[in-house]
Amino acid sequence: MGFILAAAGSAVGLGNIWGFPTQVASNGGAAFLFIYLLCAFAIGFPVMVAEITMGRKTGRNPVGAFKVLGNNKLVYSAIGMWGLICGVMILAFYTVIAGWTVSYVFEEVFFYLGMTDWASWISNTGNGPINAVFATVFMGATISIILGGVSDGIERATKFMMPLLLIILVVMIGYVVLQPGAGVGLEVYLFPDFSKVTPDLVLSAMGQAFFSLSLGMGALITYGSYLSKKENIPEAAAYVTLMDAFIAFLAGLLVIPTMYMAQAQGVPIFDDSGNLLASAALIFQVLPELFHEMGGLLGLIFGGTFFFLLSIAALTSTISLLEVPVSYAIDEHGLKRKSAATYIGGGVLAISLIISFDTSLIDHFVFIFNEIGLPLGGFLICLFLGYYWKTDNALAEMQEGYPTVMTSFFARVWPVFVKVIAPLAILYNLLSGLGII
Ligand code: PFF
Repeated sequence: MGFILAAAGSAVGLGNIWGFPTQVASNGGAAFLFIYLLCAFAIGFPVMVAEITMGRKTGRNPVGAFKVLGNNKLVYSAIGMWGLICGVMILAFYTVIAGWTVSYVFEEVFFYLGMTDWASWISNTGNGPINAVFATVFMGATISIILGGVSDGIERATKFMMPLLLIILVVMIGYVVLQPGAGVGLEVYLFPDFSKVTPDLVLSAMGQAFFSLSLGMGALITYGSYLSKKENIPEAAAYVTLMDAFIAFLAGLLVIPTMYMAQAQGVPIFDDSGNLLASAALIFQVLPELFHEMGGLLGLIFGGTFFFLLSIAALTSTISLLEVPVSYAIDEHGLKRKSAATYIGGGVLAISLIISFDTSLIDHFVFIFNEIGLPLGGFLICLFLGYYWKTDNALAEMQEGYPTVMTSFFARVWPVFVKVIAPLAILYNLLSGLGII
């Protein structure tokens, strides 16, 4: 249970509630939802099992795991290193957005108190100094939890946060779908127009699936290294994948109808040609509209709690993002946990501060490190496990907590996905998304 909670804590975060609805809105609605689900289950789930198994087998960080299983060959450790780089760059922009979730808790409070000038001042996502302050606060919180050791804090936070987030999403969805104007959004979200599927959309959906499931950079290799031999890996991975996809689905159900409602009420969401005006800040424009409309104390309770829970969800993800390079520095370079967390966290924060002053960088980071970097990492993990370490060895590791795995349906299907289906699909999507084929 502890592992599932921690892994779900890593997976459920801004990717689900900020990233997913934003991608749906900029990429053809329901068509994106369907391709996304396909990517999460057909590519994401097999890769998740691969990562967790590599971590548990070796008990190491991503670079160390590739070193051990790859017999010290540099080419293989490089795969882990690539994951580390992607993780660090993702953490850099993630921290800025996570900072927004905290500033919006204040926004809701100021708005309730009638201090509307303060509310709009603190919630201006284009304000460099404010972004920098909140990003620093957030990184400070992440570092201090990492210093306290991983398991306890994450487990406790996730156990209480996840059900509450779920409840608040469901209640808000109930409220939104009854509002006039929400119908258009529901239609866009649930009825696919497959003519909208382009190589570009597929690339974004695949990147989003990797990002949301925390895959392709070794976060789950690291978490797998803390997993007990008694656990059933495929089962744990299935729970995490389902939970993550479900929360993303709910977030879309809340945000997409709200966007259309807000647009109908004169909040500019799309430009004349139907493109999103400020993609990175979408949910921060749209959701406060909803909370303000609920009005009074109700708006404060829902809005404040929502952004608070979102910042906790983001925190359980930044912890896993920072834990990867930290465990690497501890295991491979003998650093103390304290210096590793402080130096690496501080270094990443320096990049976050640059992004704080130019938030248009976020879209570029998303493209390079999420949409290309993570699937590339997943592709290399599949090839390494499938053809070098071999799926039979991985299945033997799984057998420890899943005694009947060898004769299971899973053992017949998973190797095919790891060796053939996932790598081919990733390669094809990368090449076509980049316009190479
Ligand atoms: N999965 C997290 C989210 O959806 O917000 C983000 C993330 C965490 C990505 C950890 C990658 C990672 F290793």
